[in-house]
Amino acid sequence: MPTHLLQIAKKLAHDAGLFALKTQEKGFKIEKKDVYHNLVTEVDKECEKMIIQTIKNNFPDHSILSEESSPQEGTGDYKWIIDPIDGTTNFAHGLPFFAISIAVVYKGKPIIGVVEIPAMKETFWAQEGKGAYVNSEKISVSHVTSLKDALLATGFPYDRSGPRYKKNMELWDHFYGLSHGVRRIGTAALDLCYTACGRFDGYWEYNLKPWDIAAGKIILEEAGGTVTNMDGSKLNPSLSNFLASNSRIHSEMLTELKKRGADKL
Ligand code: IPD
Ligand code: CA
Ligand code: CA
Repeated sequence: MPTHLLQIAKKLAHDAGLFALKTQEKGFKIEKKDVYHNLVTEVDKECEKMIIQTIKNNFPDHSILSEESSPQEGTGDYKWIIDPIDGTTNFAHGLPFFAISIAVVYKGKPIIGVVEIPAMKETFWAQEGKGAYVNSEKISVSHVTSLKDALLATGFPYDRSGPRYKKNMELWDHFYGLSHGVRRIGTAALDLCYTACGRFDGYWEYNLKPWDIAAGKIILEEAGGTVTNMDGSKLNPSLSNFLASNSRIHSEMLTELKKRGADKL
């Protein structure tokens, strides 16, 4: 079953990615989801519809959690966690950094992750216990052992009035001074996959949602990376404070986060 589900997840992500890429050139409607700058386009919704319809047709008993629609509880043990476009702001502005992120969870445990980056022709994927890949090539995290040699990534909450936004500005400045640099690419799924394949060495962010990280987390862990809360405890998505790394700089990052009180917010 997992291999079959992996093939389906890859096909769904690939087809949605192609559709998004084509539509990006043509133009589309953009809406704001809240008072902040959290955007959604008609393409996000269309991609989501395509993905969910196929899952429902093939697996009517599976549960589905997807960003742009209400959760659907199935009677079976499988759950799909979907971000139809991760990096919507990039997508809306014509940037190539956006991804389709699909994970499958069995009895609460993630077993499959697929992150399709259509503009780069890169499909990151992993199956539990079988390693992580980009297209057909096996990937692993970097060998960097110290922050001073690391390239890092972060992202900022949409709510710019809260304490986490300010704290993240402070963290950006702090880590910038300690490392080769800190990137803000604008898609959590890609940040995780880039850490999985050694382009980034560490990544932190507040306020991520399950659909932002479900696929990327299993890809990173299968590539040898580590994901925890900012205090080092086992990831609890409801805390929404998140640290990912190549494992080798994890404790150094935790120490720096702690020094700045990042884990207390
Ligand atoms: C966003 C991206 C971004 C991150 C935000 C997410 P969306 O997802 O992953 O990098 O900083 O927190 O919400 O809204 O483009 O699906
Ligand atoms: Ca997202
Ligand atoms: Ca999204």
